[in-house]
Amino acid sequence: MKVVLAYSGGLDTSVAIKWLQEKYDAEVVTVTLDVGQMEDLKAIEEKAKVLGARRHYSINAVEEFVDRFVARAIKANALYQGKYPLHSALSRPLIAEKLVEVALKEGADAVAHGCTGKGNDQVRIEVTVKALAPHLKIIAPVREWELTRDREMEYARKRGIPIPVKDKPYSIDQNLWGRSIECGPLDDPYAEPPEDAFEWTVNPLKAPDEPAYVTLTFENGLPTMLNGVEMKLKDLIMELNKLAGRHGVGRIDHIEDRVVGIKSREVYEAPAAVCIIEAHKDLEKMTLTKHELEFKSVVDDKWSRLVYEGLWCDPLREGLDAFIDKTQERVEGEVRLKLYKGNVMVVGRRSPRSLYELDLATYEEWSKFDQKLAKGFIELWGLQTYLAKSRGGRAEPDVGGKAQRSKR
Ligand code: ARG
Repeated sequence: MKVVLAYSGGLDTSVAIKWLQEKYDAEVVTVTLDVGQMEDLKAIEEKAKVLGARRHYSINAVEEFVDRFVARAIKANALYQGKYPLHSALSRPLIAEKLVEVALKEGADAVAHGCTGKGNDQVRIEVTVKALAPHLKIIAPVREWELTRDREMEYARKRGIPIPVKDKPYSIDQNLWGRSIECGPLDDPYAEPPEDAFEWTVNPLKAPDEPAYVTLTFENGLPTMLNGVEMKLKDLIMELNKLAGRHGVGRIDHIEDRVVGIKSREVYEAPAAVCIIEAHKDLEKMTLTKHELEFKSVVDDKWSRLVYEGLWCDPLREGLDAFIDKTQERVEGEVRLKLYKGNVMVVGRRSPRSLYELDLATYEEWSKFDQKLAKGFIELWGLQTYLAKSRGGRAEPDVGGKAQRSKR
C-alpha cells in the first residue's frame, strides 16, 4: 500500500510515518506546503527522509493560498462568529487539494493526515479529499491510535524519532494570514493568555507611545497599496503583520463553537487580517448601497460558516463568491487606519465611487437636500405603524390616549 501523508515536521506526523509503515506496511510519501508559516522546509524534508519517507514533496503554495483563499476571505469580511479570521480553516482545503494531486501522481491508495478526532481540521481535509477523489482511502493515525502525549513520546524514543525540545506548552498552527494558539494554560477560559503565547504582536503596554497611521488602497475589494506603495497582496500582508504587530494590534481571545459540538477557547494573532477586514468593511459602507450591505452581511456570515465547517468544495460557496465578486467591482478607494496600543481605528476614508454626498449631508445653507420633502415622506413611511397603533396596542401604554378600537 502507498500512502501520501500531510507532513508538518512535528511530533504527531513524524510518529505517523513510522506508524503507517508498521501498521499498514505502507510505502509513505510525505507532502509539506508552504503557506507562509515561516518554517524551514528544507529541514522538514530532511527529517521526513530520515524517518523513512520514500519521497517528499515541498510545495510552495503561498501565492495560491493568498490568491484563491485569503483574497476571497477579505472580500467576504470573513470572521467566524465575528472574531476568527479563519486562517487555519482556509489552508486546509488547499492542503487537501495538494494531497490529492500528489496521490494521483504517485498512484497512491490512500492519503493520511495528523488531525485529532476532536477538531475541525479532520473535517475540512477529509470532506475536500472525498469531494475531489472519492476512491482514495483516508487514514487518520492520530485519531485512530488514541495515544496520550506520554505514550507517544515513548513510541518516538523507542524508534529514534527526534522529540522536539518544546520550550512552550502550546499547539500552534500558522500561515501568513494568522497564527492559532491552543492548549496548555489557555485551556482555562478564565485565565488571561500568558505573554509567551504571543509571537507576532507586542504587549500593547509596551507598544510605541506614538500612534502609526497606515493608508490602505483598495481596488475591486482588495488592498493593492500600503502607504501609497503598490505591492503584491502577499507582500502587503507580510508587511502589515509586522507594522500592526509592533503596535500590539491583532490579538484575539475567543470562545468558539467547533463543528463537532465542542466549545473551545482559542487565541489568535492576526495583525494584518484584523486591519484589512476593518478597513474593507468601512470602505464597503462608503461605496455599497444600504440594500447591498444588509444582504451582504448575511452572505458574509454564511460564507464564513461554510468555510469554517469544512465545506469549501460545496457549490454554495462558489455561488456566494459570485455574488460577493459582483459587489466588489465598486469597492475601491483609500482607508486611513490609526494603530495605537493594541487598537486599530479607521480615521478616514475616500473613494471615487463614494455614495457619501456632502451636498446632501451638510447642515450648511448650500445643502441640496430639500427638507420640505421629508414631511410627506414621514406620512407614508409610518403609515401602517400609525394605523396599527390607533387600533390599540396591547403591551405598550396608550400615551396619547387616542387609541380607539375599530368598531366597524
Ligand atoms: N480553532 C481554529 C480552527 O478550527 C484553529 C485550529 C488550529 N489547528 C491546529 N492544528 N492547532 O480553525
